[in-house]
Amino acid sequence: MSTPVQTAPYLDPSLPVARRVEDLLARMTLPEKVGQMLQLDAREGVDALVTDLHVGSILHASPERVLRAHELTGRTRLRIPLLVAEDCIHGHSFWQGATIFPTQLGMAASWDASLLEEAARVTAHEAAATGIHWTFSPVLCITRDLRWGRVDETFGEDPLLIGELASAMVRGYQGDGLADPTAILATAKHFAGYSETQGGRDASEADISRRKLRSWFLPPFERVAREGCRTFMLGYQTTDGVPITINEWLLTDVLRGEWGYTGTLVTDWDNVGRMVWEQKIMPDQVHAAAAAVRAGNDMIMTTPQFFEGALEAVERGMLTEAEVDAAVGRILTLKLELGLFEDPRRPDPGRIAALVGSAEHAEVNLRVARRSLVLLRNDGTLPLAGGHTPGAAPDGDGRAVIEGARRVAVVGPLADDAQTQLGDWAGSSGQADWLPEGHPRDMITTVLDGLRGHVPAGWTVTHARGADILTEEPDPRGEFFPDGQPRPHVVVPCAPDEALVAEAVAAARDADVVVAVVGDRIELVGEGRSTATLELVGGQVALLDALAATGTPMVVVLLASKPLVLPPSALGAAALLWVANPGMQGGRAVAEVLLGLTEPSGRLPVSFARHVGQQPTYYNQIRGQHGDRYADLTQEPAFAFGQGLSYTTVEYGPVELVDDVVRVGDTVTARVTVTNTGTRPTTETVQAYVSDVVTSASWADQELKAFTQVTLAPGASEVVTVEIPVADLTIVDAAGRRVVEPGAFELRVGRSSRAEDLTRVPFTVATD
Ligand code: NOJ
Repeated sequence: MSTPVQTAPYLDPSLPVARRVEDLLARMTLPEKVGQMLQLDAREGVDALVTDLHVGSILHASPERVLRAHELTGRTRLRIPLLVAEDCIHGHSFWQGATIFPTQLGMAASWDASLLEEAARVTAHEAAATGIHWTFSPVLCITRDLRWGRVDETFGEDPLLIGELASAMVRGYQGDGLADPTAILATAKHFAGYSETQGGRDASEADISRRKLRSWFLPPFERVAREGCRTFMLGYQTTDGVPITINEWLLTDVLRGEWGYTGTLVTDWDNVGRMVWEQKIMPDQVHAAAAAVRAGNDMIMTTPQFFEGALEAVERGMLTEAEVDAAVGRILTLKLELGLFEDPRRPDPGRIAALVGSAEHAEVNLRVARRSLVLLRNDGTLPLAGGHTPGAAPDGDGRAVIEGARRVAVVGPLADDAQTQLGDWAGSSGQADWLPEGHPRDMITTVLDGLRGHVPAGWTVTHARGADILTEEPDPRGEFFPDGQPRPHVVVPCAPDEALVAEAVAAARDADVVVAVVGDRIELVGEGRSTATLELVGGQVALLDALAATGTPMVVVLLASKPLVLPPSALGAAALLWVANPGMQGGRAVAEVLLGLTEPSGRLPVSFARHVGQQPTYYNQIRGQHGDRYADLTQEPAFAFGQGLSYTTVEYGPVELVDDVVRVGDTVTARVTVTNTGTRPTTETVQAYVSDVVTSASWADQELKAFTQVTLAPGASEVVTVEIPVADLTIVDAAGRRVVEPGAFELRVGRSSRAEDLTRVPFTVATD
């Protein structure tokens, strides 16, 4: 007779996890095991998922459904707790009133790992309080083609920056380890190569060699795998004809083999089913299920057919029960290490009331938003006011100094669009059906709100929308694809509206300065929403042109999920500030910076193209092509990786190498004196790039190898030490090995990746 469940070893927290897993596996039926591997969509209800399919995990569950699911699992035979997962990508996205930060790309513009760790900690606190155990964040995809709809979810175009920031967010989510009740599981996604699209088209074949993967796409993943990120999500893409879901080289040889990863793998949305209905490389769900398990997938996201498929695969001898056990064992290990059998970490009303959307979290969010703003152009129009009210805290509390009353016209379709300001994966962005209106309006400060609240007393702020962006229509080819899947609606740009433009022009004429808030909307952002163009959509270019013609100084606030191609009226405006999707505090952060209450300090984590046809525009491209420009256009981006202005001037002294001959095992050390030569404080991001002068295989001309941020009062200087281990000066050779090749190198230090911003000093890596 088997031990009664109440006293079974798997329920005994004093036993080692491996012993408990072994005991539990021995008690489970095959359907219960296969069910544990399923992570299903809770939006249609949870009863059947738990009761009939024995699911191990749910996602996209409304607060009510989370409670219902727990109630149901508590009544199951073995009472195996659920893993509740959600896309808490830049905050606890789909919990009404949670703290919503700038998008990941916006946060990346801070280049501040410790700030991102703090933001992730806040998200973990809020999510954990509401019963979420697992977030599908961060995204480690490297931005390539800007037309891709998911650029906003990345940390930009540089592997070092991605690795630094991803590592920080993983630490923030996972806290002091899984036993910590405020920890949630982090997910490194989308492993790997998903962003190497064809023409920016989402989830298209990633035409990418193993060498290229090892060169730029894998390093950030390797870092977080080795540092203990507990879960990895596989992308949608195929490479060399093989969906990543069954790519043995990446999953077994590289991830679990070379990197020693012991964590859990989750597929992306219906990856297993897609092999049948979309990629058409599997004849049926039985073959797809067998292949997915054999390749090492643990959690199968939103492929309910996997249940029958895997059972039949075992019955037909295409899959062994031992192979299923290996995957289920990894899932149970996670649950045991989280302590869910002892405490399923249900939503906790007390912590929810105290933490979710708290004032303390709003303060962290405001700091992140401030640091995410990138000033790209300024003819001296900014700051609009002189700075802080005497005696007010220098963090932007209070109103700006009064220097003669000014009239500010705030125009543009995004000046007061609260939900658009939050970006994708937030409230009403389309994934959660229980938040149709998005997050509470009063938690969000738009640019208009921010300016109204922070201009000096006596100033006037007027507002006109000026333009519409788009409408949506059903796809003229019909509402459904031939296989019955719904076709997404198509975007129809709005024509310029003369009356709206005239109203905005009148407001600009009546003002001392016009702040034009333009950009993109959720319909142009996200999965399956890549864009063919990068221009401002709808009536926005006509609006900017008309405003420019008024002669009133124009400050363009580009509230755009990703870099867009800007018209001359924006590029030639008095000032240009890119704010990504800056989150709930974004409007306040923008207003403060415009008014000089805070200093702009963001740096581009991604380059801006001049023309959509320049794709890709990332800075670290491979050397070797005929010439360096198009016949009809430069290849230079409009704004390059690392660029960003402040309200002061910063001078770099000579770059002094401690030793210009180094060996493998040494560290390249250089010093540079950075001086604030202007009249306002600043946070300067000192960037160090390295060029390997001659390489055995073609390579990027330069790569970011280190960066440091220094805060400098007016007139202050600081000696910044740049340290780069020689072991990091690698290339991937033609055989795919990451090696340091001794010989001539160049260290390039300065304020951005642009040649004119960098001081170059040669050094040599000598052979031992
Ligand atoms: C599909 C997306 O690609 C992925 O990033 C997300 O985490 C899952 N859906 C779950 O929503």
